Amino acid sequence: MIYNKLNTVCLLLCVLLPQLVHSSPKVVPLSFTKKYGNSIQDAQSHFKPRLRLFKRQDGYELVELTNQQSFYSVDLSIGTPSQEVTVLVDTGSSDLWVTGSNNPYCIDNFNSNSNSNLDTDDLIDCEQYGVFDISDSKSFTKNQSAPVFFISYGDTTFASGIWGQDVLHLEDLNITGLSFAVANRTNSSVGVMGIGFSGLEMTNVGTDSNKPYTYDNFPMVLKRSGAINSLTYSLYLNKLTEEHGSILFGGVDHSKYTGNLYTIPIINTLSGSGISNPIQFDVTLQGIGISTNNSSKNDNNNNDDDDDQITITTTKIPALLDSGTTLTYLPQEILEQIADQIGAQYSARIGYYIVPCDDDEQSTSFDSSTNLVFDFGGFHINTSLNDYLIKISRTSCMIGLLPYDSNKVILGDTFLSHAYVVYDLENYQIGLAQAKFDVDDDDSQIEIINGTSGIPSATKAPRYSSTWSSNMRSTSLGNIFTNLPYGNPMSSLNSNDVALTTTTITSGDTTIVRTSSRLTTTTSTSRSSATSTRNANNSSNGSSVMNNNLRTYFIYSILFIFLLPTLLMF
Ligand SMILES: *[C@@H]1O[C@H](CO)[C@@H](O)[C@H](O)[C@H]1NC(C)=O
Ligand SMILES: *[C@@H]1O[C@H](CO)[C@@H](O)[C@H](O)[C@H]1NC(C)=O
Ligand SMILES: *[C@@H]1O[C@H](CO)[C@@H](O)[C@H](O)[C@H]1NC(C)=O
Ligand SMILES: *[C@@H]1O[C@H](CO)[C@@H](O)[C@H](O)[C@H]1NC(C)=O
Ligand SMILES: *[C@@H]1O[C@H](CO)[C@@H](O)[C@H](O)[C@H]1NC(C)=O
Ligand SMILES: *[C@@H]1O[C@H](CO)[C@@H](O)[C@H](O)[C@H]1NC(C)=O
Ligand SMILES: *[C@@H]1O[C@H](CO)[C@@H](O)[C@H](O)[C@H]1NC(C)=O
Ligand SMILES: *[C@@H]1O[C@H](CO)[C@@H](O)[C@H](O)[C@H]1NC(C)=O
Repeated sequence: MIYNKLNTVCLLLCVLLPQLVHSSPKVVPLSFTKKYGNSIQDAQSHFKPRLRLFKRQDGYELVELTNQQSFYSVDLSIGTPSQEVTVLVDTGSSDLWVTGSNNPYCIDNFNSNSNSNLDTDDLIDCEQYGVFDISDSKSFTKNQSAPVFFISYGDTTFASGIWGQDVLHLEDLNITGLSFAVANRTNSSVGVMGIGFSGLEMTNVGTDSNKPYTYDNFPMVLKRSGAINSLTYSLYLNKLTEEHGSILFGGVDHSKYTGNLYTIPIINTLSGSGISNPIQFDVTLQGIGISTNNSSKNDNNNNDDDDDQITITTTKIPALLDSGTTLTYLPQEILEQIADQIGAQYSARIGYYIVPCDDDEQSTSFDSSTNLVFDFGGFHINTSLNDYLIKISRTSCMIGLLPYDSNKVILGDTFLSHAYVVYDLENYQIGLAQAKFDVDDDDSQIEIINGTSGIPSATKAPRYSSTWSSNMRSTSLGNIFTNLPYGNPMSSLNSNDVALTTTTITSGDTTIVRTSSRLTTTTSTSRSSATSTRNANNSSNGSSVMNNNLRTYFIYSILFIFLLPTLLMF
């Protein structure tokens, strides 16, 4: 037995090790900690969305839904000598910025600056996430020709400052040649690392009267320096209840999903506003249904159209994949139909749909196999209906599916945690698969994504489509659970389906400034980094990215070699 195990170990170490040392995997793994809150200041890993009910002095009852924002933070060190700051990884914006040490909103600066005209209520604690002092770094260079940096978020915070470059260390990467902003004025206590499309960079969409332009942001610098081969990353949020998730730049990890990985196009819902290429992660959602496993209940007629699978809609709706939002938002009509099917009651008192639920920590109301099913064109993502429940009292729960816009869906963490999402910014497409949970990092099967060839091992969705309907009420014929084309053949040629170049969805969509998303990350030693070593001096265009993975790998393997025989003896 032991001999066999040692053989396996040797196979792993003696055969794989040299390959790992000589190859240069082109992926950059990042692990993050998830936090939920109303703002980053109060966000905590163990928080969940919650409904608070309280009485005002005048007797009116107030209802407040809290912790609707998700954050994924990473620790960065910047400059020489290096200074530590925490930033939020955000797929919904595209610039990296950090708080400058001279920000007048910081409590510490207020005390030393008596003529500040700020109110004490406006002040923020800058200690928690760190600030960057440009005058303390001998490697910082200001970009004299760049316009003033300005960004604002849906949570009302803003940041303004200057552009520059410095050395950056992120996990085991050393990055040079990346432009970032230092905010000398901001009321957000934490900076952001936006990894979205360059079209959304503030130099391109900002209010500055100068000519708009784009520059190479974080994912682009990773590619330019050779650390990754393509402008891609895979987001694995993990179970809702797990504290950590990960982003893999430049690759896909086949161990983290089940079934097929399908590709669908990113659609341009802003084309009506003169935006020529997509700048946010909108896709076409082609249907929603509910499935329940009722086969256990002596229901032997296994025909296709039994009550266990109910199609709610087959209207094509634009859906935003929004990693900064915790809940999921649907048009009112769809919400009503779902509520109807699952027996949820609208509570006029609190303003949400409620269901009875279990009297324990795990809010459950439905059979664990009951899923809200999302169809993206011939393939499904199953999401457990229990994951949408928010406890409001001992035995009742509200449904965390909220109305927002009549023609748009926002898929937040409650959906995203069930999906493995590959963002291909080069080919304007998204890879989607059913996420697999409880995967050991040692079992990772990382494959590099090479630019124009698209996502490896992914297949085009059977009904790959970049059109959507501009009218929710148009059609709800058909069945997402059958393999046949929906309804009769004519319904797929609905006149409300529009080509991607001609539609504006709602006026609310025409603002480009980010409205809600931010995603956060904190570092942790990622075991999968052991599979990633790279050529440290690959540099072009003045930027370079290096890493310490090789060293980490050696430490792990040395420990492993010495400890394993000891462990096997027991
Ligand atoms: C900084 O300045 C250079 C040269 O003027 C410009 O090309 C570059 O895009 C600027 N970077 C940023 C982030 O604005
Ligand atoms: C941040 O500042 C803006 C502009 O002064 C203000 O409107 C907003 O309420 C502030 N937000 C927070 C969270 O302090
Ligand atoms: C921030 O920097 C800009 C550009 O250099 C400058 O105009 C502004 O006065 C500075 N603001 C503060 C609060 O230091
Ligand atoms: C449905 O229930 C049957 C009988 O209890 C069980 O064998 C089957 O695995 C279940 N299927 C799913 C998808 O939960
Ligand atoms: C499952 O079966 C129960 C009773 O057998 C029925 O009331 C319920 O509507 C079924 N659920 C679905 C989604 O078909
Ligand atoms: C979704 O659930 C259904 C029923 O439990 C199952 O047959 C199907 O394979 C699941 N889909 C995926 C993508 O896992
Ligand atoms: C991507 O490129 C690497 C080498 O750079 C190669 O080993 C790998 O097979 C390529 N993958 C695909 C899917 O083309
Ligand atoms: C990264 O930078 C730090 C500090 O400048 C240095 O100590 C370290 O050796 C560098 N790592 C690599 C892989 O270049």
